[in-house]
Amino acid sequence: MRIPVIAGNWKMNLDRSAAVALARELRDHAASSSAAVGGASGGGAARVEIGVAPPFPYLEAVRSLLRGTPIWVAGQNVSHEKLGAFTGEVAASMLVDVGCSHVLVGHSERRHLYGESSDLVGRKLAAALAAGLAPLLCVGETLAERQAGKTNAVVLEQLESGLKGQEEASLGRLLIAYEPVWAIGTGVNATPAQAGEVHRLIREWLGRRFSKAFAAATRILYGGSVKAENAAELLAVDDVDGALVGGASLTAASFLKIVAACPTRAR
Ligand code: 13P
Repeated sequence: MRIPVIAGNWKMNLDRSAAVALARELRDHAASSSAAVGGASGGGAARVEIGVAPPFPYLEAVRSLLRGTPIWVAGQNVSHEKLGAFTGEVAASMLVDVGCSHVLVGHSERRHLYGESSDLVGRKLAAALAAGLAPLLCVGETLAERQAGKTNAVVLEQLESGLKGQEEASLGRLLIAYEPVWAIGTGVNATPAQAGEVHRLIREWLGRRFSKAFAAATRILYGGSVKAENAAELLAVDDVDGALVGGASLTAASFLKIVAACPTRAR
């Protein structure tokens, strides 16, 4: 059963008071709609799972506001190293320490602006798992790659490397996000057909690499210019199990409209 997930990636936005105010609004929403909003660990009826990925300095404040709600908190990045002389890096154990349950790995801004290779992304994912974090592995092609007919090859390579050496048994909490780079922050979202095609490709690959049951249970989110206006049609696509939202996650009003557009049935 795949419960849909709507996750907000706040990127390098907001200040402390805005981050806290946003978290407070999400907390109040969760409290007023506890039947429909579920966490990663809860049982019961199908609903929507919500998560947020604030900037590192605000993780602890946001997490303490959201404690007791099912809304999970994620780091936006993580070091592949455990601890040590790695100036500017943040260890997976530190994310756990401040209350994160999830972490983004391989976001396209990390891959393309900071040169993270697929191999490094795989090592980060392994570090996240070793610390007990649920990784949200992001994959997606650039516009040039799509135009050159390389979308499938790029996405499959990022999956292969990102999950290299991993066994199904340790990936029970894995989330995948398909985020075409050309759709991120551009206002041009993938069409439901384009998203559906790549999500299907990812699920088929998971079935070959792991098992059919694992593929059927793994949530694959779409990201890239998701907003209130296009969320319903994207989230209605069979293999689209939720959304990873950037710009539209920065106000509770727009983020919660996307949550409201999400079908609450598990697939
Ligand atoms: P936008 O929703 O701003 O396009 O960003 C998507 C994204 O990168 C989420 O991780």
